[in-house]
Amino acid sequence: MASNTHNLVATADVNRIEAPVTVKAYLMCAFASFGGIFFGYDSGYISGVMGMNYFIHLYEGLPYPPANPTTAQTNAFTLPDWKKSLITSILSAGTFFGALMAGDLADWIGRRTTIIAGCVVFIIGVILQTASKSLGLLVAGRLIAGFGVGFVSAIIILYMSEIAPKKVRGALVSGYQFCITIGILLASCVDYGTQNKLTTASYRIPIGLQMLWALILGTGLFLLPESPRYFVKKGKLEKASHVLTQLRGEPEGSEYIQQELAEIVANHEYEMSVIPQGGYFKSWANCFTGGFINASSNLRRTLLGISLQMMQQWTGINFIFYFGTTFFQELKTIHNPFLISLVTTLVNVCSTPISFYIIERYGRRSILIWGAVGMVVCEFIVGIVGVTKGRASQNDPSAVRAQIAFICFYIFFFATTWGPAAWVVIGEIFPLPIRSRGVALSTASNWFWNCIIAVITPYMVGTEPRDANLESRVFFVWGSLCALCFVYAYLLIPETKGLSLEQVDRMLEETTPRTSAKWVPHSTFAADMGMTDKGTLAPEVVEKDSTFCGLAVNL
Ligand code: BGC
Repeated sequence: MASNTHNLVATADVNRIEAPVTVKAYLMCAFASFGGIFFGYDSGYISGVMGMNYFIHLYEGLPYPPANPTTAQTNAFTLPDWKKSLITSILSAGTFFGALMAGDLADWIGRRTTIIAGCVVFIIGVILQTASKSLGLLVAGRLIAGFGVGFVSAIIILYMSEIAPKKVRGALVSGYQFCITIGILLASCVDYGTQNKLTTASYRIPIGLQMLWALILGTGLFLLPESPRYFVKKGKLEKASHVLTQLRGEPEGSEYIQQELAEIVANHEYEMSVIPQGGYFKSWANCFTGGFINASSNLRRTLLGISLQMMQQWTGINFIFYFGTTFFQELKTIHNPFLISLVTTLVNVCSTPISFYIIERYGRRSILIWGAVGMVVCEFIVGIVGVTKGRASQNDPSAVRAQIAFICFYIFFFATTWGPAAWVVIGEIFPLPIRSRGVALSTASNWFWNCIIAVITPYMVGTEPRDANLESRVFFVWGSLCALCFVYAYLLIPETKGLSLEQVDRMLEETTPRTSAKWVPHSTFAADMGMTDKGTLAPEVVEKDSTFCGLAVNL
């Protein structure tokens, strides 16, 4: 069997390391972005449910307030803070651990299977939540569903980055962010539609509906192929070749497919030679090796992924999505809370597709830098107007309108840059041996900071005696953090556009973030690791790689 491995045609031509792609193949890759709906819907629906009269009445045993309630009666008819905090944050706890576990699973059972498993776990969690009529079951259901969302949110990025053609990888992964924004929008629409029902349908419909997303994603993924890079990692080169033909829409045995596969195999072999292998703990420890000084070390890449997701949360975007309603209401211009969240979520949805173009045209690094600049300017304007003309005592509606407009511009800058690019970059910077764990750690960081922001912001803007009561000044905090995002992106984010994942690996070794945009691929891993004079990948490279898991190859 192994003798056939000699037939793996390789190339020294840097332009031939990826097969041409058909429209059907693009569509297949794009389908996976549907997983973003989970993320968005799940973070979006719960605040509406916790404000529903029937839900409060059932979960707190409180009588409904009278038709024209006093402020005291309205204020008393609510869930206590600790319950709101528990119900909201338990999901993030689940997603945090789910994302971390998913990294392991994606290497053991495959990327696609892990996402399908995530859908199943999620459905179990949703069934428990839908069935619940009291806190215990609801919290247990959200914890379990959180695990599922963690699986899906971490591994979708990994899967999409690994199957997408390099020219449109950024745009396709941005499609995931687009689905997140649609999920948030859907959640607020569904909540709005059921909020006045005085039966369990008020909360059961928004909760139960989520099963549909899991069913669509899980069923669709059954029909999609596994990631070829997973099969290479497992040493199953025959399967890797087969799924590549499906993904690229090429015939079996196509020379293009062999060349692409040869490059993935040679890169994997190279990485395996520089990253010492070992048992389970060693493979986790590998994410933190190589030292801090070396910009291409595993440690630096892992820290880059974790910190990039942290910085994305530090932009303050979820302040708008979690507390925007309350904030706008306090500005006393828009009284209908649904209208408020509709405006912000619509700006988010409609702006995101712009990123499909600019992420490939201008690159990840440029849009992260310029996006941060845009957000700094908008947030400082909102803050400055808020402490001058926009103060409640000034009662100046045009100042408040200006604040709202700049908050919308701020969302526009986030949605076109940091929203998608943070996900795109974490899918691209890790070498195959640590990729699943690197992406998992980075995604877990997103959920961790998401949770921290959700927990601390009420105290930043709250008006209770021990709260900071920052009012519009809170935008100076987010504006300063966005300034930090600018410095961060300028100093640390490399340009990865247009490169294959294997070329990104080489670029990180040969450049610094500031010089990365000018780097052009100059050789292939296949040529460097050994190509025979017959133009095939050196048999020892293929065999080493394919026998890594004790498996023989037959191409
Ligand atoms: C962020 C979420 C945020 C969403 C808004 C995502 O990229 O990770 O925390 O709510 O964008 O569109």
